[in-house]
Amino acid sequence: MNASTEYDAEGQAAGRAAARAARKAAKKPATKAQNDIGPTGVRPILEVTDLGVDFWVGGEWIPAAEHINYRVNPSEVLAIVGESGSGKSVSTLSILGLIPQPPGRIVSGSAIFKGTDLLKMKQRELRRFRGEELAMVFQDPMTSLNPVLKIGYQLAEAIKTHHPKEPDAKVKARVVELLRLVGVPNPETRYDQYPHEFSGGMRQRAMIAMSIANSPSLLIADEPTTALDVTIQAQVLEVLKTVQAETNAATILITHDLGIVAELCERVIVMYAGRIVEQGDVHTIFRNPRHPYTIGLMDSLPKLTEDEDWLRPIPGQPPSLIHRPPGCAFHPRCFLSQGRLRCREEVPPLRPTDTGDGHSSACHFSEELVGHRSKFSDPVPA
Ligand SMILES: Nc1ncnc2c1ncn2[C@@H]1O[C@H](COP(=O)(O)OP(=O)(O)OP(=O)(O)O)[C@@H](O)[C@H]1O
Ligand code: SF4
Ligand SMILES: [Mg+2]
Repeated sequence: MNASTEYDAEGQAAGRAAARAARKAAKKPATKAQNDIGPTGVRPILEVTDLGVDFWVGGEWIPAAEHINYRVNPSEVLAIVGESGSGKSVSTLSILGLIPQPPGRIVSGSAIFKGTDLLKMKQRELRRFRGEELAMVFQDPMTSLNPVLKIGYQLAEAIKTHHPKEPDAKVKARVVELLRLVGVPNPETRYDQYPHEFSGGMRQRAMIAMSIANSPSLLIADEPTTALDVTIQAQVLEVLKTVQAETNAATILITHDLGIVAELCERVIVMYAGRIVEQGDVHTIFRNPRHPYTIGLMDSLPKLTEDEDWLRPIPGQPPSLIHRPPGCAFHPRCFLSQGRLRCREEVPPLRPTDTGDGHSSACHFSEELVGHRSKFSDPVPA
Protein backbone atom coordinates (compact mmCIF):
# COMPACT_ATOMS: atom_id res chain seq x y z
CA MET A 1 0.00 0.00 0.00
CA ASN A 2 1.19 3.50 -0.68
CA ALA A 3 1.72 4.80 2.84
CA SER A 4 1.89 8.47 1.95
CA THR A 5 -1.13 8.43 -0.30
CA GLU A 6 -3.20 6.86 2.42
CA TYR A 7 -2.05 9.44 4.93
CA ASP A 8 -2.75 12.31 2.56
CA ALA A 9 -6.25 11.02 1.88
CA GLU A 10 -7.06 10.66 5.57
CA GLY A 11 -5.41 13.71 7.00
CA GLN A 12 -5.60 15.90 3.89
CA ALA A 13 -2.65 17.61 5.53
CA ALA A 14 -0.28 17.43 2.63
CA GLY A 15 -3.10 18.55 0.37
CA ARG A 16 -3.52 21.69 2.48
CA ALA A 17 0.21 22.37 2.26
CA ALA A 18 0.15 22.00 -1.51
CA ALA A 19 -2.89 24.26 -1.77
CA ARG A 20 -1.13 26.90 0.37
CA ALA A 21 1.94 26.73 -1.86
CA ALA A 22 -0.23 26.90 -4.99
CA ARG A 23 -2.15 29.97 -3.64
CA LYS A 24 1.14 31.63 -2.86
CA ALA A 25 2.53 30.84 -6.28
CA ALA A 26 -0.65 32.14 -7.92
CA LYS A 27 -0.15 35.55 -6.29
CA LYS A 28 3.27 35.91 -7.85
CA PRO A 29 3.78 36.94 -11.46
CA ALA A 30 4.40 34.00 -13.77
CA THR A 31 8.06 33.17 -14.02
CA LYS A 32 9.93 31.66 -16.94
CA ALA A 33 10.06 28.30 -15.19
CA GLN A 34 6.32 28.23 -14.55
CA ASN A 35 5.62 28.60 -18.21
CA ASP A 36 8.48 26.49 -19.42
CA ILE A 37 7.53 22.86 -19.79
CA GLY A 38 11.09 21.92 -20.66
CA PRO A 39 12.66 19.88 -23.46
CA THR A 40 11.13 16.62 -22.27
CA GLY A 41 7.63 18.07 -22.35
CA VAL A 42 7.43 17.88 -18.58
CA ARG A 43 7.22 20.89 -16.26
CA PRO A 44 10.12 20.55 -13.81
CA ILE A 45 9.47 20.55 -10.10
CA LEU A 46 12.75 22.40 -9.52
CA GLU A 47 14.68 24.50 -11.99
CA VAL A 48 18.02 25.93 -10.95
CA THR A 49 19.43 28.57 -13.28
CA ASP A 50 22.93 30.06 -13.25
CA LEU A 51 23.47 29.41 -9.55
CA GLY A 52 26.74 30.81 -8.23
CA VAL A 53 28.03 30.39 -4.68
CA ASP A 54 31.23 31.91 -3.27
CA PHE A 55 33.11 31.28 -0.04
CA TRP A 56 35.34 33.72 1.82
CA VAL A 57 38.65 31.87 1.85
CA GLY A 58 42.10 33.25 2.59
CA GLY A 59 40.89 36.86 2.56
CA GLU A 60 38.90 36.78 -0.69
CA TRP A 61 35.66 35.53 -2.20
CA ILE A 62 36.30 32.35 -4.21
CA PRO A 63 33.67 30.59 -6.37
CA ALA A 64 32.70 27.17 -4.98
CA ALA A 65 29.94 26.59 -7.53
CA GLU A 66 29.50 28.50 -10.81
CA HIS A 67 26.97 28.54 -13.64
CA ILE A 68 25.00 25.68 -12.14
CA ASN A 69 21.94 24.87 -14.24
CA TYR A 70 19.78 21.84 -13.63
CA ARG A 71 16.18 20.77 -13.52
CA VAL A 72 14.44 17.99 -11.65
CA ASN A 73 11.28 16.53 -13.13
CA PRO A 74 8.47 15.13 -10.99
CA SER A 75 9.20 11.59 -9.71
CA GLU A 76 12.63 11.32 -11.31
CA VAL A 77 15.90 10.50 -9.56
CA LEU A 78 18.68 12.89 -10.52
CA ALA A 79 22.24 12.09 -9.46
CA ILE A 80 24.96 14.63 -8.76
CA VAL A 81 28.39 12.95 -8.79
CA GLY A 82 31.96 14.10 -8.41
CA GLU A 83 34.93 13.79 -6.11
CA SER A 84 35.15 15.49 -2.75
CA GLY A 85 35.03 19.28 -2.96
CA SER A 86 33.52 19.38 -6.46
CA GLY A 87 30.54 21.44 -5.26
CA LYS A 88 27.83 18.76 -5.07
CA SER A 89 26.52 19.75 -1.65
CA VAL A 90 26.92 23.49 -2.16
CA SER A 91 24.86 23.31 -5.38
CA THR A 92 21.91 21.86 -3.50
CA LEU A 93 22.23 22.98 0.13
CA SER A 94 22.52 26.62 -0.90
CA ILE A 95 19.07 26.60 -2.50
CA LEU A 96 17.60 25.34 0.78
CA GLY A 97 19.32 28.08 2.76
CA LEU A 98 21.58 25.50 4.39
CA ILE A 99 25.03 26.92 3.76
CA PRO A 100 26.52 29.20 6.42
CA GLN A 101 26.38 32.83 5.23
CA PRO A 102 29.11 34.01 5.85
CA PRO A 103 31.52 32.46 4.97
CA GLY A 104 29.30 31.54 2.00
CA ARG A 105 27.19 33.81 -0.19
CA ILE A 106 24.93 33.20 -3.16
CA VAL A 107 26.13 35.48 -5.91
CA SER A 108 23.77 34.65 -8.76
CA GLY A 109 20.91 32.55 -9.95
CA SER A 110 17.42 31.38 -9.21
CA ALA A 111 15.94 28.13 -7.92
CA ILE A 112 12.32 27.90 -8.95
CA PHE A 113 10.51 25.26 -6.94
CA LYS A 114 6.86 24.81 -7.96
CA GLY A 115 6.81 28.37 -9.26
CA THR A 116 8.51 30.07 -6.30
CA ASP A 117 12.13 31.23 -6.20
CA LEU A 118 13.67 29.57 -3.14
CA LEU A 119 16.58 32.01 -3.26
CA LYS A 120 14.20 34.91 -2.64
CA MET A 121 12.39 33.28 0.28
CA LYS A 122 12.80 34.49 3.84
CA GLN A 123 14.53 32.02 6.18
CA ARG A 124 11.27 31.46 8.11
CA GLU A 125 9.34 30.63 4.98
CA LEU A 126 12.13 28.36 3.77
CA ARG A 127 12.18 26.54 7.12
CA ARG A 128 8.49 25.72 6.69
CA PHE A 129 9.17 24.41 3.19
CA ARG A 130 11.97 22.20 4.46
CA GLY A 131 10.62 19.05 6.00
CA GLU A 132 7.28 19.57 4.30
CA GLU A 133 7.68 20.18 0.57
CA LEU A 134 11.43 19.58 0.51
CA ALA A 135 13.30 17.11 2.66
CA MET A 136 16.93 16.17 3.23
CA VAL A 137 18.71 12.95 4.11
CA PHE A 138 22.26 13.60 5.31
CA GLN A 139 25.31 11.36 5.44
CA ASP A 140 25.37 11.40 9.23
CA PRO A 141 21.94 10.62 10.73
CA MET A 142 23.03 12.17 14.02
CA THR A 143 22.95 15.61 12.37
CA SER A 144 19.18 15.19 12.23
CA LEU A 145 18.44 12.89 15.18
CA ASN A 146 18.56 14.19 18.74
CA PRO A 147 20.46 11.63 20.90
CA VAL A 148 18.37 12.30 24.03
CA LEU A 149 14.93 11.88 22.46
CA LYS A 150 13.25 8.62 21.49
CA ILE A 151 13.07 7.85 17.79
CA GLY A 152 9.27 7.60 17.75
CA TYR A 153 8.92 10.95 19.52
CA GLN A 154 11.24 12.64 17.02
CA LEU A 155 9.41 11.28 14.01
CA ALA A 156 6.07 12.23 15.55
CA GLU A 157 7.35 15.77 16.18
CA ALA A 158 8.48 16.02 12.55
CA ILE A 159 4.86 15.35 11.53
CA LYS A 160 3.24 17.51 14.22
CA THR A 161 5.40 20.53 13.42
CA HIS A 162 3.70 20.74 10.07
CA HIS A 163 0.35 19.22 11.04
CA PRO A 164 -0.26 20.31 14.65
CA LYS A 165 -3.95 19.32 14.68
CA GLU A 166 -3.36 15.65 13.84
CA PRO A 167 -4.52 13.42 16.74
CA ASP A 168 -1.64 11.72 18.63
CA ALA A 169 -2.88 8.19 17.93
CA LYS A 170 -2.99 8.84 14.21
CA VAL A 171 0.47 10.37 14.21
CA LYS A 172 1.86 7.39 16.11
CA ALA A 173 0.25 4.97 13.66
CA ARG A 174 1.83 6.93 10.81
CA VAL A 175 5.27 6.80 12.47
CA VAL A 176 5.04 3.04 12.98
CA GLU A 177 3.97 2.66 9.35
CA LEU A 178 6.92 4.78 8.20
CA LEU A 179 9.38 2.74 10.27
CA ARG A 180 7.96 -0.40 8.73
CA LEU A 181 8.23 1.06 5.23
CA VAL A 182 11.95 1.73 5.69
CA GLY A 183 12.53 -1.79 7.01
CA VAL A 184 12.96 -1.18 10.74
CA PRO A 185 11.99 -4.50 12.36
CA ASN A 186 9.50 -4.46 15.26
CA PRO A 187 8.60 -0.82 14.68
CA GLU A 188 6.19 -0.68 17.66
CA THR A 189 9.07 -1.56 20.02
CA ARG A 190 11.62 0.53 18.16
CA TYR A 191 9.30 3.53 18.48
CA ASP A 192 10.28 3.79 22.15
CA GLN A 193 14.03 3.42 21.67
CA TYR A 194 16.75 6.08 21.62
CA PRO A 195 19.06 6.66 18.63
CA HIS A 196 21.99 4.97 20.44
CA GLU A 197 19.92 1.76 20.57
CA PHE A 198 19.79 1.77 16.75
CA SER A 199 22.73 0.57 14.61
CA GLY A 200 24.20 2.98 12.02
CA GLY A 201 22.12 1.47 9.21
CA MET A 202 18.95 1.51 11.33
CA ARG A 203 19.55 5.17 12.24
CA GLN A 204 19.87 5.98 8.56
CA ARG A 205 16.58 4.18 7.92
CA ALA A 206 14.95 6.20 10.72
CA MET A 207 16.24 9.38 9.16
CA ILE A 208 14.88 8.40 5.76
CA ALA A 209 11.54 7.76 7.49
CA MET A 210 11.73 11.23 9.04
CA SER A 211 12.51 12.83 5.69
CA ILE A 212 9.41 11.36 4.02
CA ALA A 213 7.12 11.85 7.03
CA ASN A 214 5.31 14.77 5.40
CA SER A 215 5.25 13.36 1.87
CA PRO A 216 7.71 15.85 0.36
CA SER A 217 7.64 16.39 -3.38
CA LEU A 218 11.43 16.68 -3.48
CA LEU A 219 13.90 14.63 -1.48
CA ILE A 220 17.59 15.53 -1.43
CA ALA A 221 19.85 12.71 -0.22
CA ASP A 222 23.44 13.90 0.33
CA GLU A 223 25.79 10.88 0.39
CA PRO A 224 23.19 8.88 2.35
CA THR A 225 25.26 5.70 2.47
CA THR A 226 28.85 6.93 2.60
CA ALA A 227 29.29 6.46 6.35
CA LEU A 228 27.98 2.88 6.27
CA ASP A 229 29.80 -0.36 5.55
CA VAL A 230 29.26 -1.99 2.17
CA THR A 231 26.51 -4.52 3.00
CA ILE A 232 24.53 -1.96 4.97
CA GLN A 233 24.99 0.53 2.13
CA ALA A 234 23.27 -1.89 -0.23
CA GLN A 235 20.36 -2.32 2.20
CA VAL A 236 19.91 1.41 2.67
CA LEU A 237 19.96 1.89 -1.11
CA GLU A 238 17.19 -0.68 -1.38
CA VAL A 239 15.25 1.33 1.21
CA LEU A 240 15.74 4.50 -0.83
CA LYS A 241 14.47 2.68 -3.90
CA THR A 242 11.38 1.44 -2.04
CA VAL A 243 10.71 4.86 -0.61
CA GLN A 244 11.07 6.47 -4.00
CA ALA A 245 8.65 3.98 -5.54
CA GLU A 246 6.14 4.40 -2.70
CA THR A 247 6.20 8.16 -2.35
CA ASN A 248 6.95 9.11 -5.97
CA ALA A 249 8.99 12.02 -4.64
CA ALA A 250 11.45 13.53 -7.07
CA THR A 251 14.91 12.83 -5.68
CA ILE A 252 18.33 14.40 -5.97
CA LEU A 253 20.93 11.84 -4.96
CA ILE A 254 24.38 13.24 -4.23
CA THR A 255 27.15 10.67 -4.34
CA HIS A 256 30.76 10.15 -5.35
CA ASP A 257 29.90 6.61 -6.47
CA LEU A 258 28.89 6.08 -10.11
CA GLY A 259 27.84 2.53 -9.22
CA ILE A 260 24.99 3.94 -7.12
CA VAL A 261 24.03 6.21 -10.01
CA ALA A 262 23.68 3.26 -12.38
CA GLU A 263 21.55 1.46 -9.83
CA LEU A 264 19.10 4.18 -8.89
CA CYS A 265 19.05 7.19 -11.16
CA GLU A 266 17.62 8.33 -14.47
CA ARG A 267 19.74 11.40 -15.13
CA VAL A 268 23.15 12.42 -13.91
CA ILE A 269 25.13 15.61 -13.43
CA VAL A 270 28.91 15.23 -13.16
CA MET A 271 30.68 18.02 -11.27
CA TYR A 272 34.32 19.02 -11.12
CA ALA A 273 35.86 21.98 -9.29
CA GLY A 274 32.54 23.76 -8.84
CA ARG A 275 31.20 23.34 -12.36
CA ILE A 276 29.01 20.91 -14.22
CA VAL A 277 31.27 19.10 -16.69
CA GLU A 278 28.83 16.57 -18.12
CA GLN A 279 25.14 15.87 -17.83
CA GLY A 280 22.60 13.65 -19.47
CA ASP A 281 20.61 10.49 -19.06
CA VAL A 282 22.39 7.71 -17.22
CA HIS A 283 22.33 5.16 -20.05
CA THR A 284 23.74 7.62 -22.56
CA ILE A 285 26.52 8.73 -20.27
CA PHE A 286 27.51 5.19 -19.30
CA ARG A 287 27.58 4.08 -22.94
CA ASN A 288 28.88 7.26 -24.55
CA PRO A 289 30.74 9.41 -22.03
CA ARG A 290 31.93 12.65 -23.60
CA HIS A 291 34.11 14.07 -20.83
CA PRO A 292 37.52 12.70 -19.80
CA TYR A 293 36.63 13.19 -16.12
CA THR A 294 33.51 11.02 -16.40
CA ILE A 295 35.58 8.39 -18.19
CA GLY A 296 38.11 8.59 -15.35
CA LEU A 297 35.37 8.07 -12.75
CA MET A 298 34.13 5.03 -14.68
CA ASP A 299 37.59 3.53 -15.10
CA SER A 300 38.12 3.70 -11.38
CA LEU A 301 34.93 1.75 -10.75
CA PRO A 302 35.01 -2.06 -10.54
CA LYS A 303 32.90 -3.98 -13.08
CA LEU A 304 31.54 -6.87 -11.12
CA THR A 305 31.09 -9.09 -14.17
CA GLU A 306 34.82 -9.11 -14.87
CA ASP A 307 37.92 -10.38 -13.15
CA GLU A 308 39.85 -7.19 -12.63
CA ASP A 309 43.32 -7.30 -11.17
CA TRP A 310 43.49 -3.55 -10.76
CA LEU A 311 41.44 -0.42 -11.15
CA ARG A 312 42.67 2.73 -12.81
CA PRO A 313 42.23 5.72 -10.50
CA ILE A 314 42.31 9.26 -11.93
CA PRO A 315 45.87 10.54 -11.45
CA GLY A 316 46.36 13.47 -9.07
CA GLN A 317 43.91 15.13 -6.72
CA PRO A 318 40.96 17.45 -7.25
CA PRO A 319 42.02 21.08 -6.77
CA SER A 320 41.20 23.13 -3.68
CA LEU A 321 39.13 26.29 -4.12
CA ILE A 322 42.13 28.60 -3.98
CA HIS A 323 44.24 26.52 -6.35
CA ARG A 324 41.77 26.09 -9.18
CA PRO A 325 43.82 25.62 -12.38
CA PRO A 326 43.16 28.20 -15.12
CA GLY A 327 41.31 27.21 -18.29
CA CYS A 328 39.78 23.77 -17.89
CA ALA A 329 40.24 22.97 -14.20
CA PHE A 330 40.68 19.29 -15.07
CA HIS A 331 43.66 19.83 -17.39
CA PRO A 332 46.45 18.74 -15.00
CA ARG A 333 44.79 15.32 -14.68
CA CYS A 334 43.35 14.90 -18.18
CA PHE A 335 44.51 12.16 -20.58
CA LEU A 336 43.17 14.14 -23.53
CA SER A 337 44.75 17.52 -22.89
CA GLN A 338 48.25 16.43 -24.02
CA GLY A 339 49.70 19.81 -23.13
CA ARG A 340 47.14 21.60 -25.32
CA LEU A 341 47.28 25.35 -24.76
CA ARG A 342 43.54 25.76 -25.19
CA CYS A 343 42.92 23.45 -22.22
CA ARG A 344 45.15 25.60 -20.03
CA GLU A 345 43.78 28.95 -21.14
CA GLU A 346 40.11 28.70 -22.03
CA VAL A 347 37.30 27.55 -19.75
CA PRO A 348 35.27 25.04 -21.80
CA PRO A 349 31.54 25.85 -21.90
CA LEU A 350 28.93 23.16 -21.39
CA ARG A 351 27.59 22.35 -24.87
CA PRO A 352 25.42 19.67 -26.46
CA THR A 353 27.14 16.48 -27.60
CA ASP A 354 26.60 14.38 -30.72
CA THR A 355 24.33 11.96 -28.82
CA GLY A 356 21.50 14.52 -28.38
CA ASP A 357 18.84 13.98 -25.73
CA GLY A 358 20.02 16.82 -23.50
CA HIS A 359 23.47 15.23 -23.15
CA SER A 360 26.11 17.94 -22.78
CA SER A 361 29.81 18.12 -21.98
CA ALA A 362 32.24 20.88 -21.02
CA CYS A 363 35.29 19.70 -22.94
CA HIS A 364 36.88 21.53 -25.88
CA PHE A 365 37.69 18.21 -27.50
CA SER A 366 34.66 16.08 -26.64
CA GLU A 367 34.24 15.17 -30.33
CA GLU A 368 37.47 13.18 -30.07
CA LEU A 369 35.70 10.91 -27.60
CA VAL A 370 33.12 9.77 -30.16
CA GLY A 371 33.59 6.02 -30.40
CA HIS A 372 35.48 5.91 -27.08
CA ARG A 373 34.21 2.86 -25.29
CA SER A 374 33.89 2.96 -21.53
CA LYS A 375 34.07 -0.12 -19.38
CA PHE A 376 30.30 0.14 -19.20
CA SER A 377 29.53 0.64 -22.90
CA ASP A 378 28.38 -2.94 -23.37
CA PRO A 379 25.24 -4.12 -21.63
CA VAL A 380 25.82 -6.53 -18.76
CA PRO A 381 24.92 -10.08 -19.92
CA ALA A 382 21.85 -11.55 -18.25
N1 LIG B 1 31.73 26.46 5.12
C1 LIG B 1 32.65 26.51 4.15
N2 LIG B 1 33.70 27.37 4.20
C2 LIG B 1 34.62 27.44 3.22
N3 LIG B 1 34.59 26.65 2.11
C3 LIG B 1 33.58 25.78 2.00
C4 LIG B 1 32.56 25.65 3.01
N4 LIG B 1 31.68 24.68 2.61
C5 LIG B 1 32.14 24.22 1.41
N5 LIG B 1 33.26 24.89 1.06
C6 LIG B 1 34.06 24.68 -0.15
O1 LIG B 1 33.21 24.65 -1.28
C7 LIG B 1 33.67 23.66 -2.20
C8 LIG B 1 32.55 22.74 -2.55
O2 LIG B 1 32.19 22.03 -1.37
P1 LIG B 1 31.04 20.93 -1.32
O3 LIG B 1 30.79 20.67 0.12
O4 LIG B 1 29.90 21.32 -2.16
O5 LIG B 1 31.77 19.69 -1.98
P2 LIG B 1 31.19 18.23 -2.22
O6 LIG B 1 31.29 17.96 -3.67
O7 LIG B 1 29.85 18.11 -1.59
O8 LIG B 1 32.29 17.35 -1.47
P3 LIG B 1 32.11 16.08 -0.49
O9 LIG B 1 31.99 14.88 -1.38
O10 LIG B 1 33.39 16.09 0.29
O11 LIG B 1 30.91 16.30 0.37
C9 LIG B 1 34.83 22.92 -1.53
O12 LIG B 1 36.03 23.37 -2.07
C10 LIG B 1 34.72 23.30 -0.08
O13 LIG B 1 35.98 23.39 0.52
S1 SF4 C 1 38.97 20.74 -22.16
FE1 SF4 C 1 40.99 19.81 -22.32
S2 SF4 C 1 41.63 19.43 -20.20
FE2 SF4 C 1 39.45 19.82 -20.18
S3 SF4 C 1 38.55 17.84 -20.27
FE3 SF4 C 1 38.68 18.55 -22.37
S4 SF4 C 1 40.63 17.80 -23.14
FE4 SF4 C 1 40.66 17.58 -20.91
MG1 LIG D 1 29.16 17.09 0.07
